[in-house]
Amino acid sequence: MGIDNQIYNRIGDSWWDEDNPLNLLHGSFTAGRFAYFRDVLQRTGRDPVGRTAVDIGSGGGFLAEEFARLGCRVIGLDPSEVSVRTALGHARSSGLDARYVVATGERLPLADEVADVAYCCDVLEHVSDLDRVIAETARVLKPGGIYLFDTINRTLASKLLVIKVMQEWNLTRIIDTELHSWAMFIKPAELEEVLHRHGLHLGDIAGLGLRANKLGVLRNFARARRGTITMGQLSRAVNAGRVKPTNISYLGFATKPS
Ligand SMILES: C[S@@+](CC[C@H](N)C(=O)[O-])C[C@H]1O[C@@H](n2cnc3c(N)ncnc32)[C@H](O)[C@@H]1O
Repeated sequence: MGIDNQIYNRIGDSWWDEDNPLNLLHGSFTAGRFAYFRDVLQRTGRDPVGRTAVDIGSGGGFLAEEFARLGCRVIGLDPSEVSVRTALGHARSSGLDARYVVATGERLPLADEVADVAYCCDVLEHVSDLDRVIAETARVLKPGGIYLFDTINRTLASKLLVIKVMQEWNLTRIIDTELHSWAMFIKPAELEEVLHRHGLHLGDIAGLGLRANKLGVLRNFARARRGTITMGQLSRAVNAGRVKPTNISYLGFATKPS
């Protein structure tokens, strides 16, 4: 079986529901990733207010809403029509100004050099043509613009946690389909090479991991599997965020020279 990107249409109507497996990305994951991205914007001297931010693979809009709250004009793009509808509905009901469009990262329906910020979070390991996605991202970024990302490393550790624990082992898996394919995970050096090929300069790579103790993490995956805690509770319990090791997931940024 290949990677199942259709899941974002099958269950993408309830990203914000704490019982939905996709809600795992909310809770501590959104908070942990966004804390790093805010820090990067600050460190690189960027004021996000009024800036155009393009969210490539926006899903249910978890990060798009954070960037909108920060004052960015957000355009979210995602191939899943159901997810785009959900994200749009949620932004409206939260009184946030975010536009969403059905599109793939390989073919962004945007003019050249329109974005101050572009980001792909937990998306690069889902795309069929990584090179095209980065080429398109570089095209739509303004000179001096910044690209923020997080993705999953291709290591034994990521195979154990993301493939075995999360989607294969009967006692712990939280999804019954191939949400991820280990072969599509990306080593940081591979990503750096693609970024470089399209004129984006890597600024930083930092680890993204589960900060709760390993036994507690396993126990909580098993609880979520049995339905005794929600996916939202699981997300908060594993305490995802910035860590030193980059062997499971990593965050980073790259810039387009002025
Ligand atoms: C794991 S979700 C991440 C959603 C969101 N970025 C977040 O972090 O909350 C992956 C998303 O990538 C989208 N996706 C899959 N293939 C894509 C592609 N070729 N271009 C852009 N997005 C894609 C899926 O529809 C899904 O919404």
